Amino acid sequence: MSKILVTGGAGYIGSHVVQYLRRCGREVVVLDDLSGGFRDAVPAGCLVEGNIGDRAALDQVFAEHGIAAVMNFASFIEVGASVKDPSAYYRNNIGNTLELLDAMARHGVGHLIFSSTAAIFGNPEYTPIDEAHPKAPINPYGRTKWLIEQLLPDYEQAYGLKSVCLRYFNAAGADPDGQLGERHQPETHLVPLVLQAASGRREAISIFGTDYPTPDGTCIRDYIHVEDLAQAHLRALEHLESGADSAAFNLGNGNGFSIREVIEAARAVTGRDFKVVESERRPGDPPVLVADSALARSTLGWTPEFADLETIIAHAWAWEQAKGVKW
Ligand code: UFG
Repeated sequence: MSKILVTGGAGYIGSHVVQYLRRCGREVVVLDDLSGGFRDAVPAGCLVEGNIGDRAALDQVFAEHGIAAVMNFASFIEVGASVKDPSAYYRNNIGNTLELLDAMARHGVGHLIFSSTAAIFGNPEYTPIDEAHPKAPINPYGRTKWLIEQLLPDYEQAYGLKSVCLRYFNAAGADPDGQLGERHQPETHLVPLVLQAASGRREAISIFGTDYPTPDGTCIRDYIHVEDLAQAHLRALEHLESGADSAAFNLGNGNGFSIREVIEAARAVTGRDFKVVESERRPGDPPVLVADSALARSTLGWTPEFADLETIIAHAWAWEQAKGVKW
């Protein structure tokens, strides 16, 4: 069977997708420069070390492996960093992604699953956010993802490249079997930071802003299990393989949790108490981001398995504890 190229497959979401695809009998090649990912997150023999902006490396991978589809996770993901250094985001998330798309066109690879984000919507006009919601990113990170989404139809018309864009809301959790989990360096995401506080590896968790127009004053997010994101990627690829049209889907559970609610859930799951500090707002944070994912469910047959917050936190907690022992 032809292979799937997973770029950024050594990173958090990419590595979970690679494991899921292999368990479902798919053959995978990972292209990752290990700038944000980890060699030991990739199964032996699957990793090609390289950057998606390296034309020669791309030509070699496509020529050698009989690639039929690409899932692209190789991008920068931090909103705050994108405001401080937009050039790095435009070069990597746009420039290098264009190299990847061009290589797909050169080698006649017709299926792309593209990692997009809730950040393309900016400050929501209504919630839950469906696919028709206006796109108005408020930071460079969101703009890079929305720009690629907008140019994909041109690549389809000219080069026959079909795509599914998956707009993740807040990815969290870890492999239920405990083999993989979240390990960004530095970590900036709420769930792993709260669990570091619970495990004592961090002194306290800071709440960024308590004066938002939400019931308890803290930001509300839609947390989605990384394993359910993995399932969505396979469903999206099957959608293209069945001959269906290019599309874009919002992926979340449709339930919003405030930061205080996440902290309380973490206390309940871990049985640990920890210090909470109320701090200033973090620039660029919309008050509420909750997905309407009805379209992904009805069109892709996507059925999240781990939708409740306690399960997401329990899996992330198991990983946090194992990690504390390992490194
Ligand atoms: N937060 C805190 N304290 C922390 C860390 C985060 O209060 O120590 C808050 C943030 O201010 C935000 C919420 O917790 O209100 C969630 O923050 P994360 O950093 O975990 O996630 P974001 O919502 O900022 O961003 C994530 C991804 C982005 C993606 C976005 C889409 O990192 O790539 O979800 O919803 F665009």
